[in-house]
Formats: sequence, C-alpha cells, structure tokens
Amino acid sequence: MSNRLMRLRASRHLRDLCAETEFTRAQLIQPLFIVEGLEHDEPITGLRGTARQNIPSALRQIERDLENGVTQFLLFPVPGEKKLNQFNHHFSQQAISAIRRQFGDDLCLWVDTCLCSSTTHGHCAVLDDARINLDATLNELAQAALAFAEAGADGISPSDMMDGRVARIRTRLDEGGFELTPVMSYSTKFASQFYGPFRQAADSAPQFGDRRHYQIDVRHRTDALACSERCAEEGADLLMVKPGLTSLDLIRPIHERTGRAVGAYQVSGEYAGLALLAEQGLTNFDAALRETWHVFKRAGAQYIITYGARYARQLGI
Ligand code: PBG
Repeated sequence: MSNRLMRLRASRHLRDLCAETEFTRAQLIQPLFIVEGLEHDEPITGLRGTARQNIPSALRQIERDLENGVTQFLLFPVPGEKKLNQFNHHFSQQAISAIRRQFGDDLCLWVDTCLCSSTTHGHCAVLDDARINLDATLNELAQAALAFAEAGADGISPSDMMDGRVARIRTRLDEGGFELTPVMSYSTKFASQFYGPFRQAADSAPQFGDRRHYQIDVRHRTDALACSERCAEEGADLLMVKPGLTSLDLIRPIHERTGRAVGAYQVSGEYAGLALLAEQGLTNFDAALRETWHVFKRAGAQYIITYGARYARQLGI
C-alpha cells in the first residue's frame, strides 16, 4: 500500500521527527493567587498544584517555580477588603513590589487588571445601581494599571472586556513614563461556565446576574474576532483567547488579521477537568495536560497560560 500514513507513526523516533509543534517552558505562564490576610495556604478545588497564598508563601512558591524553570507569571492580587466602587491598590502593590524586590529580572511578572476581586458585587466594572459606568470603569482600570507598573509589574493584563480599556490603559501608562510596559490583553474572552474554580480562588463571583453583558457570547464568532482586532488597534501588544479549548478555531484567524501573537488561557475549569478525571482514574493527568498544550500550539497559540506551567519540566518540556 503506497498511502500508508501509519508508517511514520510506527516508532517514537519517527513521531518525533515529524512533530510540528514544539514549545519551551518560556512560553508557559503560571498564574498565582496572592490573597490579603491569609494565615495559611488554601487549596482551590480542582486546581491541582495551585493555592491561595499570602505574600511570604507566594515568594517561596516562586522560588521553587524558578528552580523548575518557570519564568513567566500572571499575578491575581486578591485584596481583603471589598468596596462598592472604591479601589485601593495598596495590597496589590505590596505583592508586586515584594516579588520584584526578591527576584529582580529573573522573572517576567504580568498582573491581571480587573475590578471583580475588589468590588462587593463581584462585577468587572464600576456600577451605578446595576448599570455599568463605563467611563468611571476605564478610569479605575487605567489607574490600577499605572499603580501596578509603578510597583514593578512587567506587563499589564486587562481581563474585564470593557470597551476601550486597552486604549485608556495605554495612554495612562505612556503618560506615567511606562512606554515600554506591554499590554497582554484578554482580547477574546467569552462568557463561560469554565471559570468556576477561579472565581472561588479570586473571590470574584458576581453577586447578582452574570457577565453576559460584557463577555462574548460563544455563538458570536464575528464579535470574537472584532474584540481582538480592536484590542490590537488600541495598542495591545499580545492578544489572548479564553477559554483556550473552546476558542481553538479563533487563534489563527486572529493572528492573521492582526499580525499579533495570540496566546491561549487554559482556564481553571478546563484544567480542573483534567485533574478531576485523573482523580477518578479516568485519565493520566500529565499526559492529558501535555496533550492539551500541544493542541494549543497546533492551533497557533504563541504562549499558554496554564495552572500546570510549574509541572512542565516534570512533563519533559
Ligand atoms: C477576572 C478573570 C476571570 C478569569 C481571569 N480573570 C474570571 C471571570 O471573568 O469571571 C478566569 C480565569 C480562570 O478561570 O482560570 N475578570
């Protein structure tokens, strides 16, 4: 038989020879949850290897991660005190500067920039009654971005999906002298059922309603593409799809339309799904995780945000 496609799958060496997706640990980003006022680490249901931590514990964690070759981190600061429409970046700045002081440029620190962990209502915006006050929201996001950059963040990651936030953040960073601080935008972010473990971790579940009036409807491909295109026009340096697995089809089209690198966020529910299957003896966690990462790469992702980044070396990556 001349058309035997199985021939090149017959040995590990042949499979390795033909592999088209390879990546390095430098393209994996590890999320961290640093929570104000915690006495002890708190594990997060389903998020194997990730906990809510106080600053000293997170510093020890980062030290171990660096030893394991993780260099990229995405920080979610979770302040203890929630306010209705008032934001105080003191705790976030403390966490960022502690990391910067201890690790200098051994790592690249991105900081998630959103309001949902700081508000009593858990929405990603300033609300007047139940309505989004867009201008006030953009102002607060820009203020947060500047505060994070001043504390030593390497990059800003807005995850709120408010219209115009990248432009406002870019302007404020530039005015503050942070022209070289990149914006990694959660540019195509869907309203999703896969954020469950995260909302527990970041204490950010909406207290009423849901996020459908600002996050993208999964049925609306045109909107999904337009959101990333607009982020690129507004000056986002890096783009992202989220959740990763449910957005695979969009990665290449976004890259082709914008010319920007596009990453995939393997969100908490996707990751926890693998861990829970493994707990039930229904999959091999390590192999399943590696499989999903290769699929993100095959779909065109330049970088991957994953709770499993710290296992990469152990997985042979
Ligand atoms: C905050 C934010 C969310 C995630 C990242 N930033 C939750 C949400 O939008 O509700 C989800 C990440 C994950 O599930 O791993 N806006």
